[in-house]
Amino acid sequence: MRDTHEQFSSLTVSLHWLIGIGIIIMLAFGVYIEDLPRSPEKGQLIGIHKSFGMLIFLLALIRIFWRYINKFPIPLSEIQGWQKTLANLAHWVLIIGTVMMPVSGVIMSIGGGHPVGIFGLELIAGTGEENKILGKIGHIMHGLGGRLFILFVILHFVGAVKHQIIDKDGTMQRMLGKRVDKD
Ligand code: HEM
Ligand code: HEM
Repeated sequence: MRDTHEQFSSLTVSLHWLIGIGIIIMLAFGVYIEDLPRSPEKGQLIGIHKSFGMLIFLLALIRIFWRYINKFPIPLSEIQGWQKTLANLAHWVLIIGTVMMPVSGVIMSIGGGHPVGIFGLELIAGTGEENKILGKIGHIMHGLGGRLFILFVILHFVGAVKHQIIDKDGTMQRMLGKRVDKD
């Protein structure tokens, strides 16, 4: 079933919450592992981080295809000016971020000569050879991208809370899969 103005499909709802919650956990997980001293435990945690990151990447690709078919949702209440621009920008940054984070992670891993896989299933073999420039590009993209992503997730969350508490327009109910009245 496709999205309609009154009700989102279960695929839209499931992908939003699966990826959304996954991304929030991954951002916190990434910031946590970044500060750990080099150790075998850190290596294991990075392996888990990479595996979940690649799973989210696959879901994100399905979501982008689904978004392309359905287009972005039309807001339930009349928002104008900077709020509309910010809400649209946030949706774009969030969607692009779900691809850019895994891609930059992969670039960083290739740069370090490390393998990339999903829980033991190898997707890209490790060469053991470092490519310092590639590693640096990936690291900067992943680090700065991660900070920007956190900022936009917070903005998006504040927007969702505003819709719920101030506008009371059913935006959250719609993203929870419920049917909302047109006006
Ligand atoms: C707990 C946190 C979150 C809440 C409460 C929340 C809430 C919502 C709500 C209510 C909408 C519907 C907006 C509308 O109908 O105009 C929405 C859409 C959206 N959210 Fe979130 N969200 C959260 C986390 C995230 C995260 C972490 C991402 C990052 C990937 C994200 C990405 C999106 C995108 C791209 C849309 C546009 C519709 C879509 O593509 O499914 N959200 N969110
Ligand atoms: C869902 C997507 C992902 C998110 C949201 C995410 C987020 C993060 C964040 C916020 C950091 C901390 C970076 C910093 O503070 O500089 C981090 C670290 C890291 N991420 Fe990701 N990541 C994702 C996917 C991946 C993938 C797919 C890979 C590799 C295939 C990867 C590899 C790494 C590595 C190796 C580190 C540690 C860097 C270090 O210790 O210097 N990430 N991640």
